[in-house]
Formats: sequence, structure tokens, C-alpha cells
Amino acid sequence: MTRKIVGLSGAVLLGLALVFFIVMAKKGEDQGANLTDAKLVSAGEQVYRDHCASCHGANLEGQPDWQARKKDGRLPAPPHDETGHTWHHPDDALFRIIKEGVSGIVPGYESDMPAYGDKLTEQEIWAVLSFIKSRWPRRIQETHANINRRAHQK
Ligand code: HEC
Repeated sequence: MTRKIVGLSGAVLLGLALVFFIVMAKKGEDQGANLTDAKLVSAGEQVYRDHCASCHGANLEGQPDWQARKKDGRLPAPPHDETGHTWHHPDDALFRIIKEGVSGIVPGYESDMPAYGDKLTEQEIWAVLSFIKSRWPRRIQETHANINRRAHQK
């Protein structure tokens, strides 16, 4: 009798564990940048036009002289295309910069990059990142995938 109960609760636990893994895997699918998801990329393009293009440029070209600090000591908005350094950073760092501003990864750093944590949902942040990544040449996309892989090995 007790053996039966133990066996039964074991089966229930196993079932629960399976449900948990499926739910977590689904969550992982919904979150994250995915430049091959056409719907996500086009939603991201809209977010980019509405919130980012005014500084980072309609064609992701950034502001003129973006490498030279302005009189107030702050940097202009860099390009998000392959001429900038957005692709030097792994996805999770880019996500945090967009959500929290640059001070999210460099505490105390003063910058004109706004924090979007209360203006965009996490899904919208992943969408805009997917759009930006979809505009990179294949070669840069591959290099960036390696940067992501290396960042997650640490
Ligand atoms: C008001 C102007 C402005 C707007 C609007 C803006 N940014 Fe920025 N962004 C900046 C500036 C300026 C920097 C450079 C900050 C620094 O390094 O001091 C920056 C930096 C970044 C970086 C880091 C790039 C790198 O290589 O270090 C990312 C990523 C970024 N912005 C994404 C976005 C996204 C996505 C949006 C729209 C949701 C957006 N920004 C809207 C001004 C802006």
C-alpha cells in the first residue's frame, strides 16, 4: 500500500516537473531577440520609428560626429548599423541598456540615452532589438551570435 502511494506521488511529481519544463521552455521562446521572426521584427521596426529613430537615425545611422563628446561631456547617439558598436555587446547587455539606460550596465554613467523600462514592455524591447539585428549584414549577425555564445559561457 505505502509503496503504491510512494510510486504514485513519484509519478505526480514527474508529471509536474514536465509541465514546469514545458512552461519554462515556452517562456524562453517568447522572450529574447529573434531576427528570423518576421512579426517580431516588424513590431520592432514600429517601436524603433516611434522611440529611437529621432536620435539613432531613420536608417540606424546615428548622429553626426557620434564619436566626439559634446560640450556637456556626453556622447551623441551612435549608429545601430554595422558602423557602430551596438553589435559589440551581447543581447542581454543591449536589453539592459534599453531598459535601464547606459547606467544600467555602467553605474553612475551620465548619458542622453533614455531608460525605457516604464515606456516599453520587455516584449517590445526584444522586438526593437530583433529589428536592429535584422538590419546587420549576415557576417555581423554571425559574429554577434558568437559574442552571445561567449557571454553565456562565462
Ligand atoms: C534622446 C536620444 C535617444 C533616444 C530617443 C534613444 N537613444 Fe539610444 N542612445 C542615445 C545616446 C546618446 C547613446 C550613447 C550613450 C553613451 O554612450 O553615452 C545611446 C546608446 C544606445 C545603446 C548602446 C549602444 C552602444 O553601442 O553602446 C543602445 C543599445 C541604444 N541606445 C538603443 C536605443 C533604442 C533601442 C532606443 C529606442 C527604444 C533608443 N536607444 C533611443 C540616445 C538616444
